[in-house]
Amino acid sequence: MSSPQQNPSNQSVADGPVLRPHEYDGIQEFDQKLPNWWLFTLYSAIIFAFGYWFYYFQSNIPVSDRDAISAMVQAKEAKELESLKEINDETLWKMSRNPQFVEAGRAVFMGTCKACHGENLEGGIGFNLADDAWVHGSKPSQIFHNALNGIPDTGMAAQGGAQLGTQKIIQAVAFILSKHDPQHMRDIPREQEPTLKK
Ligand code: HEC
Repeated sequence: MSSPQQNPSNQSVADGPVLRPHEYDGIQEFDQKLPNWWLFTLYSAIIFAFGYWFYYFQSNIPVSDRDAISAMVQAKEAKELESLKEINDETLWKMSRNPQFVEAGRAVFMGTCKACHGENLEGGIGFNLADDAWVHGSKPSQIFHNALNGIPDTGMAAQGGAQLGTQKIIQAVAFILSKHDPQHMRDIPREQEPTLKK
């Protein structure tokens, strides 16, 4: 058996196993090149770690997961809101921030309210519902009441009851409110309504 050559300079390891010059309690060490498969695994792991870190923590690419989850949360919230017995300002604002409610309300609005209030809520036969100024009450509960029961002695007939169910009115109001900000809602005297025929 040929003994491995000494390598005092500790430089060339290309020709195979080389003994390192030191010795401790009779224990000597080979100076081996790390196997390629081992190095490959190490560098792959480093590259993978960078890629993983970037993909999940730095980029916005995996939003599809997040979108799927938020859609589920919204669907659940919509169900909870639908089963609410109490309709007040707060719950109506909440509904107006739920995309499922707003989408359902858009359909109701385009089917029933658009004819008088316009495709962009700009008004026409009916009052403008896009601006933040309200003649018959700027509170969501008042808007809901006006839509449901109508406004006596005006062209605004009751839309609830036989016309549409209460649920559809709620959705339409949520759609209207989705165009508004709670802070900006205000009441105006009737003569300031821009769509009013003079
Ligand atoms: C036939 C036409 C017509 C339809 C359909 C109609 N409206 Fe109206 N709406 C009016 C008119 C006219 C007024 C203004 C009443 C007045 O003269 O004070 C009005 C007023 C309103 C107001 C009060 C606005 C304010 O400034 O306070 C709300 C809210 C409203 N409508 C919601 C709805 C909703 C929601 C729908 C659909 C579900 C709807 N309307 C359908 C004609 C209509």
